[in-house]
Amino acid sequence: MQTALLIASLLSPVLAGTYSRSSNIVGEGFYNAFNFEAIPDPTDGRVNYVSEATAKADNLTFASANTFILRADYKTVISDSSSTGRNSVRIRTNAAYTTHAAVFDVEHMPQGCGTWPAIWETNESNWPAGGEVDIVEGVNDQGTDQITLHTNPGCTMPSSGRTQTGTVVGTDCDAEANGNAGCGVKSTVASSYGPSFNAAGGGWYAIERTNTFINVWFWTRDASNVPADVRAGGTSVNTGGWGTPTANFPNTDCNFPNFFDGNNIIINLTFCGDWAGQSSVYASSGCPSTCVDYVDQNPSAFQNAYFQFNSINIYT
Ligand SMILES: *[C@@H]1O[C@H](CO)[C@@H](O)[C@H](O)[C@H]1NC(C)=O
Ligand SMILES: *[C@@H]1O[C@H](CO)[C@@H](O)[C@H](O)[C@H]1NC(C)=O
Ligand SMILES: *[C@@H]1O[C@H](CO)[C@@H](O)[C@H](O)[C@H]1NC(C)=O
Repeated sequence: MQTALLIASLLSPVLAGTYSRSSNIVGEGFYNAFNFEAIPDPTDGRVNYVSEATAKADNLTFASANTFILRADYKTVISDSSSTGRNSVRIRTNAAYTTHAAVFDVEHMPQGCGTWPAIWETNESNWPAGGEVDIVEGVNDQGTDQITLHTNPGCTMPSSGRTQTGTVVGTDCDAEANGNAGCGVKSTVASSYGPSFNAAGGGWYAIERTNTFINVWFWTRDASNVPADVRAGGTSVNTGGWGTPTANFPNTDCNFPNFFDGNNIIINLTFCGDWAGQSSVYASSGCPSTCVDYVDQNPSAFQNAYFQFNSINIYT
């Protein structure tokens, strides 16, 4: 009996779905784990990504013992014609991850017309050859979270028969197909995105990436089915107990190790640009004016354009 227990505990780290925490990112720890990227927006947004020093000086980032905040400027009218847009932030982990699980405990996400927030994983220097997984993404406060892969040509997803609660919105992950729409899955849970997410007190997003599948989950703050290990944010997790994911990307027609290498986690908040700012998309969201004018002229509308994290835990 004792021997069997000992063997079971020795074996548990290698059982499928069981991971140990390799990184616990909380409060000031975000500044060690992430770099601020003051770069031109690759998605043509009405944004000016600032350095860590500027973000700190302008209080666009703030950390306490158990809170980390990232926000856009909500005080400045953009009237300088040479400006690329509203000051905001884009941060990227120093570490890169291959197979792993990660749990994002998010209290608040950016909201407002023109906002396009994202939490995602990629290898920027090798894009799209290193793959991209969008874990949290949406625009203009509209609808639910969309989870999407973007890859080199040759990775596709089945349109049906997947073990997931979300709805398939695209099956070709090729970044060169369909205007880089990717292979997406839309959550059916209203509180998975935007103002509804914030009103519910946020929640948890989680990813598991293996060599044979990628799964993404979402649980709203007060859901009765939040796994105890996710809620605890402790030193180990067993994804086998997490239930049906929101999005399941199987390897039926995608050999994952050929399409994904080491990915950094990126958190960004842009405005307008290739998705949020498309005139048909912006108009159909019920937002006023044009996207760029609205973002430029209405700083106070961006008071709630901020991320608030309780923690990010990485398990490998
Ligand atoms: C922000 O994240 C999305 C991923 O969802 C990515 O496609 C886009 O390039 C990023 N935008 C910016 C401005 O960095
Ligand atoms: C900076 O932002 C934090 C979080 O929103 C807030 O609590 C704090 O009062 C702000 N500091 C200043 C100097 O405005
Ligand atoms: C990201 O891509 C670059 C360029 O191909 C490659 O050299 C690097 O090893 C990749 N990074 C990781 C962590 O896999």
